[in-house]
Amino acid sequence: MIQQYKLRGEICIGFASLFSFAAVMLLIFVHVGQINTSSVPRGIAMAKMNVSQYGQTLAQGLGDPITGLYATNASAPLKREAGIRRLYKFGLYSYCGYLNNTAGTCTNTTIANEYQPYDALLADMSLNYSALTIYIINGTSSFESQSIANHTRSAYYLILIGTICAFLALVIGVVKHTLAFLASACFAILATAFVLTGASLWTSAINSSESVNGLILNTTSIPLGIKVSSGSGLSLLWAAVACLFASLVPYLISCCTFRG
Ligand SMILES: *[C@@H]1O[C@H](CO)[C@@H](O)[C@H](O)[C@H]1NC(C)=O
Ligand SMILES: *[C@@H]1O[C@H](CO)[C@@H](O)[C@H](O)[C@H]1NC(C)=O
Ligand SMILES: *[C@@H]1O[C@H](CO)[C@@H](O)[C@H](O)[C@H]1NC(C)=O
Ligand SMILES: *[C@@H]1O[C@H](CO)[C@@H](O)[C@H](O)[C@H]1NC(C)=O
Repeated sequence: MIQQYKLRGEICIGFASLFSFAAVMLLIFVHVGQINTSSVPRGIAMAKMNVSQYGQTLAQGLGDPITGLYATNASAPLKREAGIRRLYKFGLYSYCGYLNNTAGTCTNTTIANEYQPYDALLADMSLNYSALTIYIINGTSSFESQSIANHTRSAYYLILIGTICAFLALVIGVVKHTLAFLASACFAILATAFVLTGASLWTSAINSSESVNGLILNTTSIPLGIKVSSGSGLSLLWAAVACLFASLVPYLISCCTFRG
């Protein structure tokens, strides 16, 4: 009888460890998104902003050719009024701007980097274009809202703490002791709650910023040509939430039934 319980406990903890291992791996991928332009980080972004149509919109709207709006040098530094890039991708620690699928550059990495697509765009424009853009966009949507930045900064800390809790649940769960399983179950619950909240904050921030997609140029019917969308990083984050949630049940069963 006791042997049987032990065996069941082992199988249970095996499943729990498998799910938390998957969650930790997914969260590591989320963390490395956009820290540099090499292939894996480049592919993972929380949010993307495509401004490749914006220059054309301005040219049509103003009836003047637009020159010097876009950067021509893919490695020119960001935030230095050196010209906007066609595609921006935002990660947890930095963001990158790309002129084509592969050529781009990233900002320095910082802890709790905020998602501020509007500021990122303005910071790359020369003064006359940023004044024009502020005139066009300011006060028209929640795209420029400061709460997007605040929410994603809080979300960063929640995701970081959640990642640490998920890692602790995984490591402690390997120790064959009822108390260890109890601790693992607690860390798994905390990890689920933190990562879930972080993912929700990011999702709502991206939804707010997507309001820019529907904007049209004042007094014309030309779409503004700034398109924001969520990236694969957000999907990975939600997949991590699902894995953490799936690990809860076997962790709880293990801590209640295992008599090591
Ligand atoms: C950006 O948008 C343009 C026009 O909508 C589209 O042709 C282009 O493929 C998009 N680029 C990326 C990287 O999504
Ligand atoms: C592009 O920008 C980088 C970084 O500022 C600079 O080192 C490089 O010389 C530039 N290339 C050209 C062709 O201007
Ligand atoms: C992207 O741009 C770089 C430099 O501007 C160029 O060397 C490279 O061939 C381009 N790649 C693609 C896929 O267009
Ligand atoms: C990034 O870091 C480098 C070296 O630490 C520094 O020279 C540069 O000014 C920084 N760039 C920005 C945009 O802060």
